Amino acid sequence: MSKEGPVKIKFYCGENIPLELHKVRIVQKLNLVPIERRLEALYEGGFNTFRLSTRDVFLDMLTDSGTNAMSDMQLSAMMHADDAYAGSQSFFRLHTAVKEVLKKEYLLPVHQGRAAENILAKAYIKKKGDLIPMNYHFTTALAHITQYGGRIVELLYDEAYNIQSSHPFKGNLNVEKLEEVIKETGVENIPFIRMEASTNLIGGQPFSIANMRAVRAIADKYGIRIVLDASLLGENAYLVIQREPEFRDASMAEVIGIMTGLSDIVYFSARKLSSSRGGGICTSDLKIYRELESLVPLFEGFLTYGGISVREIESMAVGLYETLDETMISQSPDFIAYLVNTLMANGVPMVTPPGVLGAHVNAMQVCSHIPQTQYPAGSLAAAFFLVSGVRGMERGSISNQRDEEGNETYADMELLRLAVPRRVFTLSQIKYVADRMIWLNENRHLIGGLRFIYEPAVLRFFMGGLEPVSDWPQKLIAKFKEDFGDSL
Ligand SMILES: Cc1ncc(COP(=O)(O)O)c(C=O)c1O
Repeated sequence: MSKEGPVKIKFYCGENIPLELHKVRIVQKLNLVPIERRLEALYEGGFNTFRLSTRDVFLDMLTDSGTNAMSDMQLSAMMHADDAYAGSQSFFRLHTAVKEVLKKEYLLPVHQGRAAENILAKAYIKKKGDLIPMNYHFTTALAHITQYGGRIVELLYDEAYNIQSSHPFKGNLNVEKLEEVIKETGVENIPFIRMEASTNLIGGQPFSIANMRAVRAIADKYGIRIVLDASLLGENAYLVIQREPEFRDASMAEVIGIMTGLSDIVYFSARKLSSSRGGGICTSDLKIYRELESLVPLFEGFLTYGGISVREIESMAVGLYETLDETMISQSPDFIAYLVNTLMANGVPMVTPPGVLGAHVNAMQVCSHIPQTQYPAGSLAAAFFLVSGVRGMERGSISNQRDEEGNETYADMELLRLAVPRRVFTLSQIKYVADRMIWLNENRHLIGGLRFIYEPAVLRFFMGGLEPVSDWPQKLIAKFKEDFGDSL
């Protein structure tokens, strides 16, 4: 195995600083509005960070979806897009990238990741109660599976639920439990096994190739297909190189090829995987391609554009090749590790080991005085926006959906995710985030709970509205003024 160039750069002072291996050539001005305006914005947006206007947001750490910085190569590729309803050259360039990077023969383009989930659920969940075993759910994947009458079972090892851990692969799928579930449920009731690269909702935690090989062996034994959610595949591959001794000297291309080679179907959100927009479903199995093919024109668009603009298709193709560049992929995980380590060193409880896509604060511990019925992670997200202008995302019980009887299902983990999109923030901005979070953690007793005032039936976390259960935001502002004076 071979690989190009080392990524680590040592500093003479001995400090471990993640050094940017890119330069900034286009910038966007940011505003940091006063804390009083931030409070108004919270009331206007129902204390839900999804509903804030970016006019009021300083650092947008909501997500890395569609917010990674694009490269000069991606932007320039957009200029030579071939506008055509059918047979566009842009599609053929993307198809070549899929063959070369993801090593799959067939590609079905879709407008984003959840569109792929919709098509897969529609095609394969044939009867009520069909079961999809997976390492862990993602919100949109779960919503589509249940929408078509399916169920899921999450099969992580116990260590994955241990928020502070040194286990390198908390996203591993529990193969012993997988076999038990298959025997109990019956192969005929399991349309596929879903593996999510860099398992999002447990803190962006990867699985190992050894684990995936073991899952493949069971899938082969029982004749069940493996579907890989590759939205965060690049980061999972990077952490395999960092943490799995067998792959220490492997290249990104080799590791990505092994992971997709172990899967029957690969789908992705290109908003994440290739720092562009769009998504795709890929396979090398013509039978599978045929099973899915007709659903693309039905839900998305013709097979050579899939609801995506041709300009985005061009940037997706270039972005896929750039996924193989370790200096590009490493930037976000290395910044995240820096942020997590700084916060941990200052007493803020974080998900460890540091994962990908964002730093995850353990809201259950920071807000241990707030019961889960009052949404500790949502409360922390609102409080952090108030004191910093930084917008994170609640990944806890608000992000869960109610069960069939309408009861709350409380999340295993109450997390505040501070996303670090690729090549977007500078290190001083990351230091600002750490500074304000350290202050908030030291004043955590001032944070109070939230309650719903408007609760949509599906994916409630996107548009739901909440309000504080007391005047805690006003008390938090008073303490902020005491400590920071007239600083923004
Ligand atoms: C792991 C994972 N799968 C699927 C999706 C859905 O993708 P999209 O937002 O493009 O619909 C996401 C989005 O964040 C994701 O993180």
